[in-house]
Amino acid sequence: MPPTVSSSALAVPYSRIRELAEIAMGMDGVYKLYFGESNVPTPEFIKRAAQKAMADGFTYYTENAGLPSLRKALARYYAELHGVELDPSAEIAITASGVQALSVAIRCMLNPGDEGIVLTPAWPNGAAIMHMSNATPREVPHVLASGKYSIDFEALERAVTPRTRMLLYTSPSNPLGWVATEQDQEKLLEFARRHGLWLMADEVYERLYYPGLSEPLKKGVPTCSSPSILRKCSREDAVVVIQSFSKAYCMTGWRLGWLVGRKDLVARASQLNEFMVSCAAGFAQRAAETALLWGEQILREMVCRLRENRDFCLGVLGKIRGVTVPVPDGAFYLFARIDGVDDSFEFSKRLLMETKVGLAPGVAFGAGGEGHVRICYASDRPVLEEAMARVKNFLEAR
Ligand SMILES: Cc1ncc(COP(=O)(O)O)c(C=O)c1O
Repeated sequence: MPPTVSSSALAVPYSRIRELAEIAMGMDGVYKLYFGESNVPTPEFIKRAAQKAMADGFTYYTENAGLPSLRKALARYYAELHGVELDPSAEIAITASGVQALSVAIRCMLNPGDEGIVLTPAWPNGAAIMHMSNATPREVPHVLASGKYSIDFEALERAVTPRTRMLLYTSPSNPLGWVATEQDQEKLLEFARRHGLWLMADEVYERLYYPGLSEPLKKGVPTCSSPSILRKCSREDAVVVIQSFSKAYCMTGWRLGWLVGRKDLVARASQLNEFMVSCAAGFAQRAAETALLWGEQILREMVCRLRENRDFCLGVLGKIRGVTVPVPDGAFYLFARIDGVDDSFEFSKRLLMETKVGLAPGVAFGAGGEGHVRICYASDRPVLEEAMARVKNFLEAR
């Protein structure tokens, strides 16, 4: 008998966003609003810092936990942004992307046969990584009432079994744009402590936070952030934060992220990095220090532009009958419910074929996602204007 692919690998469902994207990639002139990426290139000063880092010899392996200088820069960043003191030598590890931070941290939390609760609709990678760890994700959908999403704490209680070991939530959320309030965070923390669970907060969109725009820009100091769970928990709590340079600094292709967490987990995750990627690219890490130091002005401009894009798209969708879309406070997505749609993949495919606008089908985001589409509004304004006009015509002609 020839060997088969492992059951943990086979348990991972194919991404329905990717499935739609593959159809779109075979077509010309598609308005691509299906991926979570802006078309803004990495700022020049960050690219130049990477070139200099290469010239300066940052072309070797680094520590498994990442360059000490980048971890120190991150500790300073957290002190300024959230007033949180972190030990850069023990509580921060650099990873080769946010998704690798998720991967290594989940490996450190789940044993085969364990269960992890995931608040959905959610970016599918967390649940997929749980499958890859021979564990089972249990989805608990957010509830929508009076135009706002919230956490269904009663459903969370019901989802706990003797095998549950962790809870993953994303704030600001992909795809909802929902942001956990401080009260939500306190309740999540209390829930995790009471049940003896790891609490994993994916905060990769924390700097794309619109209410924060009312804070004045202070020279050289980071401002404008959604509330971080790190402000609420102690350093001894079983809490891990997942982070990335991808979204705030337009560095998706650089593959650079980090995690913050309890010392024992960070030590293990750093050690496991050796067997996954060994380390993130040294010159990228060095350039990231520059991004943290000098990125505030450009980040603020980007968030202002994103808010304008959000409001523009909301304005269009708000005029279409049968479309419901809560106003998101963060990230760069709208998650629109379309009346009468019960197969969001087929709907998105038809929209793509007939209008050449590619949106992500809501079914890709797990429980609570069907019947919706996700629109990424991080594109250039002219792209968005044309795409939204086509979506409007398509929906009105139904
Ligand atoms: C919720 C969430 N977490 C993590 C990531 C990972 O980002 P990256 O792997 O590019 O750092 C993404 C990317 O889309 C995301 O949407």
